Amino acid sequence: MSRIVYVNGEYLPEEDAKISVFDRGFLFADGVYEVSAVIDGKLIDNEAHLARLKRSMSELKMTPPATGDEIIAIMEQMVERNGIDEGLVYLQVTRGAADRDFAMPTDATPSLVMFTQKKTLAKNPVADKGISVITVPDIRWKRRDIKTVALLPASMAKQAALDAGANDAWFVEDGFVNEGSSNNAFIVTEDGKIITRHLGNEILHGITRKAVMELARRENLEIEERPFTPEEAYDAREAFSTSASAFVMPVIKIDDHTLGNGVPGPVTDKLRKLYIEMAKAG
Ligand code: PDD
Repeated sequence: MSRIVYVNGEYLPEEDAKISVFDRGFLFADGVYEVSAVIDGKLIDNEAHLARLKRSMSELKMTPPATGDEIIAIMEQMVERNGIDEGLVYLQVTRGAADRDFAMPTDATPSLVMFTQKKTLAKNPVADKGISVITVPDIRWKRRDIKTVALLPASMAKQAALDAGANDAWFVEDGFVNEGSSNNAFIVTEDGKIITRHLGNEILHGITRKAVMELARRENLEIEERPFTPEEAYDAREAFSTSASAFVMPVIKIDDHTLGNGVPGPVTDKLRKLYIEMAKAG
């Protein structure tokens, strides 16, 4: 059975969901997006995703295609119409269709598209074993705080990881780890401190990152928001990444360095468990 895709006011079978070749998302990557997780049919931390979407649009002076409440209502419709118990809602806003011109059109109607993906998030067997990552140079643009659809460098990094026999890539710039290809990066030091890069234009301000840090603080775990080097990560006791699509994902190997005894560590396991509990509690 085909999915129902939302395109500019219409709920359509996916084979009928179409967008103009003149859409600036297609021609200029002039679009922003959000990915929200669904657990037990409920969107997780969705208000925060909508707030970030609003900020992304505002930073690019993009006219919102609908109000936040209207967008949430469409997302909920998408969950229902596609029978999503566990999975993802992808939404994308672009500046709309206009004749190709580097100058931004003033009269284009913004476009809003959504689709769903069924995915096992909570009982993900990959999280039981953990993943390996490689480090790659961060060749992305300098406004990574805006969640744009210009994802080619991220896709190249992910593919480089897969080609190297690893699962994911961590972006390194000026000698420090910024974040993962589509997630935020954390390490746990020998003395039990959780380290993750501080916020700035260099990384996406992850919604899961924020929620996991709050959970860690409630557990009285110490957190330091500062840059860390790949070398510090090689010597870490544990590492993990966070995202709406993988929650808390244990990292057990970074480049050629296996962390600890090569299995997910207790701090990571605890934070993953707490995050899933929170998500299920709604
Ligand atoms: N990616 N950093 C980058 C570069 C990301 O693309 C993402 C999310 C994150 C984590 O953000 P959040 O916790 O809000 O999902 C960090 C989504 C899942 C994606 O592109 O599919």
